[in-house]
Amino acid sequence: MVLLSFLTHLAVGANLLAQAPLVNSLALYQNRATTSLEDFIASESPIALQGILNNIGSAGSNAVGVALGLVVASPSKENPDYFDTWTRDSALTFKALVDAFIAGNTNLRNLIESYIYAQAQLQILPNLSGNLSNGLGLGEPKFEVDGTAFTAPWGRPQRDGPALRATALIAYSRWLISNGDISFVTSVTWPIISNDLSFVGQYWNWTTYDLWEETLGSSFFTTAVQHRALVEGSALAEQIGRSCASCGQAPQILCFLGSYWDGNHVAGNQNEDNQRSRKDLNTILGIIHTFDPSAENCDTTTFQPCSDIALANHKVVSDSFRTIFSVNAGIPEGSGVGIGRYPEDTYQGGNPWYLGTMAAAEQLYDALYQWNKIGSLEVSSTSLAFFQDFSPSVVTGVYTSSSPTYTTLVSAIKTYADSYMSLVQKYTPSDGSLAEQFNRHDGTPLSASNLTWSYASFLTAVAARDGVVPASWGEPSSNVVPSVCAGSTATGTYLTPTATAPLPPCTAVTSVVVAFNVAETTSYGQNIFLAGNITQLGSWNTVDAVALSAVDYQAEYPRWYGTVDLPAGTALQYKYVEKRVDGSSIFEGGANREFVVEGGLCG
Ligand code: NOJ
Ligand code: NOJ
Repeated sequence: MVLLSFLTHLAVGANLLAQAPLVNSLALYQNRATTSLEDFIASESPIALQGILNNIGSAGSNAVGVALGLVVASPSKENPDYFDTWTRDSALTFKALVDAFIAGNTNLRNLIESYIYAQAQLQILPNLSGNLSNGLGLGEPKFEVDGTAFTAPWGRPQRDGPALRATALIAYSRWLISNGDISFVTSVTWPIISNDLSFVGQYWNWTTYDLWEETLGSSFFTTAVQHRALVEGSALAEQIGRSCASCGQAPQILCFLGSYWDGNHVAGNQNEDNQRSRKDLNTILGIIHTFDPSAENCDTTTFQPCSDIALANHKVVSDSFRTIFSVNAGIPEGSGVGIGRYPEDTYQGGNPWYLGTMAAAEQLYDALYQWNKIGSLEVSSTSLAFFQDFSPSVVTGVYTSSSPTYTTLVSAIKTYADSYMSLVQKYTPSDGSLAEQFNRHDGTPLSASNLTWSYASFLTAVAARDGVVPASWGEPSSNVVPSVCAGSTATGTYLTPTATAPLPPCTAVTSVVVAFNVAETTSYGQNIFLAGNITQLGSWNTVDAVALSAVDYQAEYPRWYGTVDLPAGTALQYKYVEKRVDGSSIFEGGANREFVVEGGLCG
């Protein structure tokens, strides 16, 4: 079968970065590293990236049997079984990886391309939602890890997947174009993107299961990401001299998007089959995934993160979880809490989600970016309650960045955003793994382990915190609601993507750069080395041990750091060693540390 022979074709590339477990102080010294949020972010960042890579086929350590380029939602195979590949989770993950690639992680390129080729294969696969001839098959929510169709009942179709996939591929395509590689775009990515845009233009006004796979109707998240995809798809088409007839639906989707604002919060769903409050995390997710750093204002039409309706909604959604989860008990309004999917949720007991809690932080980081760019902040009657959490006496008005009110509010909101991340820190186990949820009563991780989307959310929230923003999707030229709204659709064209050709073979990973980090307070003349049972680490001979660097050493985070290039697959034992000026060396206490260098990922 074409699909299998293609997907199992192993293509492996350049060097990879791996991360030995982070050590927060050595037994020898009995110092404890401080655990500030900064420390957590520094130690969790490589773990989150590795957590994603582990879940991608064909060589991720948690992805045994997964076809090349496919992403499992989680390695968990029962209660819940998430060992499948969802179009949504995969696209959100690869959007985060594409942005990380653009921000400088060049190792990710082959992996991104393997995802793209794999998606071309999935697009042509007939499934229980339909097939490619009229586009309906693109609405299939998930597939088996070997790239075959999933044949059991499910909440299908889910119409956010094609839009999110188009967005991920467009981000990569635009990078390629600005780096002179238009041919990969016209021959490989555009045919895939074009099918997805056709699907959005044709079916945006049809009912869909929501991103939680439970509710049939219309979902804010789905509508928001659909609008975005058509806007940026249209710009890409123009850039490469192609047409996108379906992209003309974007203004109509924008019209419909406006109808989710109910005067108090953003309704998570409309036309739905349940009786819920419509307070829903999907609104915050829709808002962060349609944030545009180039937006000139805090536009309400596109629900920009700093818009008054988005802020009002942030408060309503956050507050809806304050009283129902005991882990949130006693945390005052204006301080971060664990955020679940929606207050009535009972799935796995109905708990806070890591990705929800980080999304709440991310919206605020995005808003801070926007206020800083605009140079002022507006408190309107709609957003007043949100701002009063930080300044009870604040009144409506526009505060320029030179005003004390602006300074006070911005600083309090940064603290507020960080408090969501600190909560995630609090409920992250010491190995840094991120599950789907944490228990509403005691915060212990539960449901799917090592959830790919949780790790992706960590990466995007931290990037937003650092002001590393994704590329614009064209919000400034697409935020005007047409005067007449109609639920129109455009019949799309669907063509077999030409990207069914196999990936060019790439050389197997032979060596991996492994990073070693240890936090250890030392004084002048004390240096930390790395010794181990392999020649690269001196074969336990301290004379040949590897010197770690203290360039990043700070009192609050006494980091000793080094990288060692090791053959893929090496199993090693090691210890940290302190050497003193008098020539003496002291091994840390306890058993030898152990580490296996991964290999095989198409880096
Ligand atoms: C119900 C959950 O709420 C939903 O999100 C999940 O995807 C399905 N069950 C399948 O596990
Ligand atoms: C259940 C979540 O509700 C859904 O959004 C997600 O796609 C799947 N799990 C897989 O992670």
